[in-house]
Amino acid sequence: MNLGPRSYPILVGTGALRSVGERLAALGAGRRTALVSDRSVMALHGSVVIESLRASGFSVAEIRVPEGETAKTLAVAERCWDDCLAAGLDRTSTLLALGGGAVGDLAGFVAATYMRGIPFVQLPTTLLAQVDASIGGKVAIDHPRAKNLIGAFHQPRLVVVDPSVLSTLPDAEFRSGLSEVVKHGIVLDTAYFADIEAHVREILAKDLPTLERVIAGSCRLKGRVVEADEREGGPRAALNYGHTVGHALEAATSFSKWLHGEAVSLGIAAAALIAQRLGMADAETVTRQVGLLKALGLPVTFSGPAPDAVVQAIARDKKARDGKVPFVLAPRIGEFRLVFDIPPDAVLSVLGKMQEAAG
Ligand SMILES: NC(=O)c1ccc[n+]([C@@H]2O[C@H](COP(=O)([O-])OP(=O)(O)OC[C@H]3O[C@@H](n4cnc5c(N)ncnc54)[C@H](O)[C@@H]3O)[C@@H](O)[C@H]2O)c1
Ligand SMILES: [Zn+2]
Repeated sequence: MNLGPRSYPILVGTGALRSVGERLAALGAGRRTALVSDRSVMALHGSVVIESLRASGFSVAEIRVPEGETAKTLAVAERCWDDCLAAGLDRTSTLLALGGGAVGDLAGFVAATYMRGIPFVQLPTTLLAQVDASIGGKVAIDHPRAKNLIGAFHQPRLVVVDPSVLSTLPDAEFRSGLSEVVKHGIVLDTAYFADIEAHVREILAKDLPTLERVIAGSCRLKGRVVEADEREGGPRAALNYGHTVGHALEAATSFSKWLHGEAVSLGIAAAALIAQRLGMADAETVTRQVGLLKALGLPVTFSGPAPDAVVQAIARDKKARDGKVPFVLAPRIGEFRLVFDIPPDAVLSVLGKMQEAAG
């Protein structure tokens, strides 16, 4: 990732977690580290990382946080600050996040704020974190009234992605992460999209060489966008494809009905159909997107919530500018366009059709 003085390597490779210690030492990091993870992930994959760090001469304090979104609170961050102090971490020490996007967001927030910012390493263990959340430097905790409201930009010094840890990830979580992979192909790279289309079986079987290629491809694509737009004022908007309707579906159901990637899959299907309805995309462009999502076991139709509740949730979108919600649409595979004046009727009608199709 080339970001001038904030540049960092992203390594993708089977068994790569065993090299974390060496790689951190090569960066000249201070001797003290703390590893942040939740109980399950620490039990499954913590020892590889801890042994690697100790073998390279680092001390490792273990910081356990609650699982999933419940980790992203001020109370948990405060406990982590206490643990960092107790472990004697100073400005040269490194905080490592081992886990899904929630652990990464929380640990990154702690690293961004402790002593005004200390070095941070991402060791993502869900597919979503490997292809999306661990790259780009956005870190945050939730506010009781909105997700990710309190945060910072704090780029990691190093990202190490080991696809073999996905063998312990529940299938639904794995498939959910594939939405972001499909998203990258649709808006950024037609050849990448075609590669996914051609290797659905290998991907679902978690074939390691295939996963290495697919994950590395997504990291490159997201990395390129972040390089062009580190603090999200322009092209980074492309990464929001499928997320306007996706977020609205999540919000309208109090984040309880779908995993994030499932809602994004529905949001991608909706965006594809909206583009077609507005005469911006042809039928084949829609069929390929919907077809690939379905083949990967992701939802493309849904029953409930009511379309007008979803449209109301869209109007409250965090990314709205002067009351206008930007919509990312794909005129064809590999291209995107930002559109601000989507008629609510078009959204309503598309959501209605997706519900009818669910029967
Ligand atoms: N910072 C960003 O740019 C960014 C981007 C996208 C999402 N996010 C954030 O990411 C979070 C979602 O992340 P997520 O989808 O990774 O879910 P998650 O972090 O909530 O983890 C989901 C579950 O998977 C378990 N798990 C993780 N790795 C495992 C493994 N290898 N084997 C078995 N179980 C494992 C965890 O214990 C947890 O219970 C949200 O909070 C979202 O806001 C951040
Ligand atoms: Zn997403």
